[in-house]
Amino acid sequence: MSAPEVTRSRTTVGIVGGGPAGLMLSHLLDRSGIESVVLDLRTRDQIENTHRAGILEAGSVDLLVDSGVGDRVHRDGHRHEGIELRFDGHGHRVDFEALVGESVWLYPQTDVFIDLADARERDGGTVHFGITDPTVEGVTTAAPTVSFTDAEGQRHEVTCDYVVGADGSRSMCRHLVPDDVAVHHFREYPFAWFGIMAEAPMSAPELIYAHSAHGFALISQRTETLQRMYFQCDPYEDPSAWSDERIWERLALCTEGDGFTLHQGPITEKVVLRFRSFVAEPMRHGNLFLAGDAAHTVPPTGAKGLNLALMDVKVLHEVLERAIRSGETSALDEYSPRALERVWKAQHFSYWMSTMLHTMSGEYSAFDTRRQVGELTTLVGSEAGRRYLAEGYTGWPAPRGGA
Ligand code: PHB
Repeated sequence: MSAPEVTRSRTTVGIVGGGPAGLMLSHLLDRSGIESVVLDLRTRDQIENTHRAGILEAGSVDLLVDSGVGDRVHRDGHRHEGIELRFDGHGHRVDFEALVGESVWLYPQTDVFIDLADARERDGGTVHFGITDPTVEGVTTAAPTVSFTDAEGQRHEVTCDYVVGADGSRSMCRHLVPDDVAVHHFREYPFAWFGIMAEAPMSAPELIYAHSAHGFALISQRTETLQRMYFQCDPYEDPSAWSDERIWERLALCTEGDGFTLHQGPITEKVVLRFRSFVAEPMRHGNLFLAGDAAHTVPPTGAKGLNLALMDVKVLHEVLERAIRSGETSALDEYSPRALERVWKAQHFSYWMSTMLHTMSGEYSAFDTRRQVGELTTLVGSEAGRRYLAEGYTGWPAPRGGA
């Protein structure tokens, strides 16, 4: 049997990964008249049905709106001007608008993905979902190639000027940076989140981050009738071992006090989300650029993951445009340091919120739980403390012209 024929083509930027980071980059490049090809192992349906976090920083919403994909976030998203921190049975509001003049938006990552995938389709973008056998070669040459088999079984080889690895936390592209160049920072946590989706009315108008002797809980939302909630669990917890009744009991214990009532309803999804902090440095090697989860993951406390990915590609688009349009290739050197500055700020913020709010078991646990209450009391009692939280949560202002 003869080998199947390979379709050869050329593009300027080959983007491995069609999640929000890859699609946003492709969308921004298109608006600058720069061609790209996007590919993803997952089908569009698979990506659309993987629930992820739901909070967009002000700068992420600006990016969607300014690039012409902000209609739905404004129509269907919910603007949140603050959060509640709950500990020792009392709620304390942190008012973002009053403290820093910014808000965040509750708008699920899957909806950001849908908006971008629709925009790419509408604008005639080349996006291949459901591909197999991707390979990337020659990232330190002037003509790297991206090869893959599309969903119809056709093999492609695309020659590019630049390759972007936006291929998520199990990134293949990350491993193209040689071991003697790459530095991988990694931190695992002794706790995880048990996440549920419940058909119930909202329990509160804003998100509640609750510290308690029974562990952390987060009361989030999706719509008027669908709620997202999490409580702290063991990383090896088996979701099927938890009945609905047991879940509601635990969530009630973690949030009790102050006349707060948790609105319950049928639970439609149960998942355990492991926690990890990870950074791969540098985020560029030759003509390969890493973006989003391919280069870094954060624990979900503070919802920084998607926001960081969007800020990566905002910077990446800017430097690629300068390199491609004006031949200013030195602009490419800016990408990794500029992106990493924000990545490490977000790493610290996510680590700080996680370790302040989750309780630990073991010898010092009672000490640590009371110490955390001391920290939380200091934080909410100080305008400087509340502002520090508000600045981090809503997203720091862009440094140096756009990051
Ligand atoms: C969510 O709604 O899924 C969510 C919100 C805030 C977080 C994490 C997850 O910090």
